Amino acid sequence: MLNDSIQYQSGILCCDSVALKDILIQTGTPVYIYSLKRALSNLERIRQAFAAVHPHIHYSAKANANLAVLGALVQAGAGVDAVSAGEIHRAFLAGADPADIVFAGVGKTPNELGYALEHGVGWINVENVGELQIINDIVAGLGRTPARVALRLNPDVSANTHHHIATGHGTAKFGLSAEVVRGVLKQQADYPHIRFDGLHIHIGSQLHDSRATRQAVQLARELMAPYPDIRTLNIGGGLPVAYSPDETIPDWNDFASDLLSLLEGCEVILEPGRSIIADAGLLATSVLYRKQQNEHTLLITDSSMAELIRPALYEAHHEIVPLFQPTEKDSLSYEIVGPVCESSDVLGHNVSLPDDLRAGDVLAILTAGAYGMAMASNYNQRVRPPEVVVSEDGKSWFIARRRETWDDLLRTEL
Ligand code: LLP
Repeated sequence: MLNDSIQYQSGILCCDSVALKDILIQTGTPVYIYSLKRALSNLERIRQAFAAVHPHIHYSAKANANLAVLGALVQAGAGVDAVSAGEIHRAFLAGADPADIVFAGVGKTPNELGYALEHGVGWINVENVGELQIINDIVAGLGRTPARVALRLNPDVSANTHHHIATGHGTAKFGLSAEVVRGVLKQQADYPHIRFDGLHIHIGSQLHDSRATRQAVQLARELMAPYPDIRTLNIGGGLPVAYSPDETIPDWNDFASDLLSLLEGCEVILEPGRSIIADAGLLATSVLYRKQQNEHTLLITDSSMAELIRPALYEAHHEIVPLFQPTEKDSLSYEIVGPVCESSDVLGHNVSLPDDLRAGDVLAILTAGAYGMAMASNYNQRVRPPEVVVSEDGKSWFIARRRETWDDLLRTEL
């Protein structure tokens, strides 16, 4: 959706003060474009919403791990939520202090745990009892001070979100049941090289209300209560963004204030991803062909499910707007599709756009900064697009990642 950073100025679509067409002359399409200003102001808005509990904000790198984005957020004081050694490595390159990194994930390998612990990563969020023994043994071998662990609780609640991104129901693969958490906490002495300092919950992404989070926090507090040393509660990510004008989402301040009283007395960690970077980014794409298919008017673009998989994977909606602000022109309903050989390669259904669009015209797929490039693939041997960052001043911009080449596609084959 359009916002303070991604909007029309004098009829031309801009990212802050930069006209998209000026970027496109140099980069071509498809290209991801991000507003640092928007990302940083989102970070600040989250900080303000939860200010009463002085949260530690660990940006969830899985949403968008571009080094320039990560670096700017780290510079602004965010820690990092990483789910693989690859993300930890990136976080280091982006300047993150190891102590400000949380390492999460349902299936960390012993090598990844070793890498994290050797480098002094601040927190390990644990989701398997077997993982505890591995951590304990690694730390013993390294002769380090005990590792700080937060057990991830599966609170068995159902989050109000798309079923593919809900994680807190009892049958999900994530976390440990309350019973297992209770059992582990009773047996803490079995792991002399671990400090059980916190609990972690993340019940889903794009949460449309705070109800299930409140239930989860309440349960976590009950489990923590007998252990005064367990003071940290990591409540995960999940703050929602509006993908269309008619999607009603809770205001972040309201979402936070629903939780604040339940968080009193805790050290609070948040792991927002989408809410920081989604609406700071767009994917610019060109129309390759216009084709009439019975009653449907198709615009076939140079972007596809390889560049942005969310519509194909989750039936996710992204607003699609033209480069030049439509005047009073007649509009038409289009199907916006990509060139990939899959029927699900549809970027937008029934998209209302000016009726005279044709090959060469540029469209912007909005709210694509999170889980866009991060989930892009080389399917159909497509090269992944470049990423452009518009600096915090809103005026200067740079290519933070170049377009891949055919050589890049072959580089790892022997
Ligand atoms: N913490 C944990 C443990 C997570 O699993 C996630 C996201 C986050 C934090 C960040 O959540 P956020 O603030 O972004 O909601 N690819 C999907 C979203 C998958 C989210 C996975 N976990 C999408 O495009 O909607």
